[in-house]
Amino acid sequence: MNVLITGGAGYIGSHTLVELLNRGYGVVVIDNLCNSSEESLKRVEKITGKSVKFYNADVRDKGALDKIFTENKIDWVIHFAGLKAVGESCAKPVEYYDNNLNGTLVLLQAMREHGCKRIVFSSSATVYGTPEFLPLNENCKTGGTTNPYGTSKYFQEIMLNDVYKSDKEWTVVLLRYFNPVGAHESGLIGEDPKGIPNNLTPYITKVAIGELNEVGVFGNDYPTPDGTGVRDYIHVTDLARGHVAAIAKTVKAGVYTYNLGTGKGYSVLDVIHAFERACGHKIPYSVKPRRAGDVAACYADASKAKRELNWEATLGLDDMCASSWKWQTQNPNGYR
Ligand code: NAD
Ligand code: UFG
Repeated sequence: MNVLITGGAGYIGSHTLVELLNRGYGVVVIDNLCNSSEESLKRVEKITGKSVKFYNADVRDKGALDKIFTENKIDWVIHFAGLKAVGESCAKPVEYYDNNLNGTLVLLQAMREHGCKRIVFSSSATVYGTPEFLPLNENCKTGGTTNPYGTSKYFQEIMLNDVYKSDKEWTVVLLRYFNPVGAHESGLIGEDPKGIPNNLTPYITKVAIGELNEVGVFGNDYPTPDGTGVRDYIHVTDLARGHVAAIAKTVKAGVYTYNLGTGKGYSVLDVIHAFERACGHKIPYSVKPRRAGDVAACYADASKAKRELNWEATLGLDDMCASSWKWQTQNPNGYR
């Protein structure tokens, strides 16, 4: 079974490659390296002892996709490629809609022309907007997104649903990730953000190693147990295994939607304290105003994925922090 991984050199893509290769799947990667480095693929080869066929190209390049589908028999596509920074998407909506929506459209055209009709799509808990109730299940209302990144995920889910409605031979798996964190246990691959990180755990990591002075805690007056924002952090290795489960278990055409989370919510202070346990010293922080667009709490009902895919998260917050710390200390400059 051969899987085309778009965005495979990125954070979640590289971890998914490891899990697929370890289970004997053949993989082909397309990535334009706009937010990653080819070094991650070399590390994947080192971890697994297997080779990765790589095409350095943009998913909006139909000619490149035609070449890939002609040169390889592809059974499934896992579509990670896209831009993902919430704040940047507000400043650059045209670039975000172009990359994320056009990327998916061109990919779908190529898949249809080459007779490959099975796709797993990287969606996000962001499609739920402000949660109607918690924990969020897959039937909760979607939409009401507050930034172009989130809206692009919502639109892409609609596009993929429409493709299935028009042709019932398609298999579409929409995986709504909660908050992926952590790194591979080897410390060889991990998250490698450019510049000052926007997300909590990469920021804490940079404070822990002394590159940044303190963590800003965005609000401590939310209606949560300690007043700070609560999220469902999921270890990237568990998340990667969710993709393997999706491919292995989905045999009938249709549209399937799954939350990939742990079902547990942790506050910003919980994460800071877990990281202190991982690195063995205090992490300085101070409380700042709330960040625009943040919700108080967001965590998954992940029981559908357990029921239907026989998948559930197995790694906890301490594993997530310990692996991030190992990756950071072994690779202080990321892949550079
Ligand atoms: P990432 O930036 O590390 O990986 C995305 C990869 O896609 C990068 O290697 C980038 O170079 C590549 N890429 C981007 N545009 C491309 C294009 N037009 N053509 C070819 N390659 C392109 O991000 P990630 O964290 O691994 O996220 C993967 C997917 O999961 C994204 O679609 C993201 O929106 C989604 N997601 C991520 C999170 C998260 O918190 N990390 C949460 C929910 C959903
Ligand atoms: N936070 C801080 N300080 C920081 C960064 C974040 O206190 O320096 C807080 C936030 O206010 C929030 C929590 O930490 O309460 C998590 O924030 P992140 O930025 O790490 O993650 P988000 O939940 O905002 O969003 C992430 C991804 C989105 C994705 C979403 C899915 O960035 O792309 O998870 O739920 F859609």
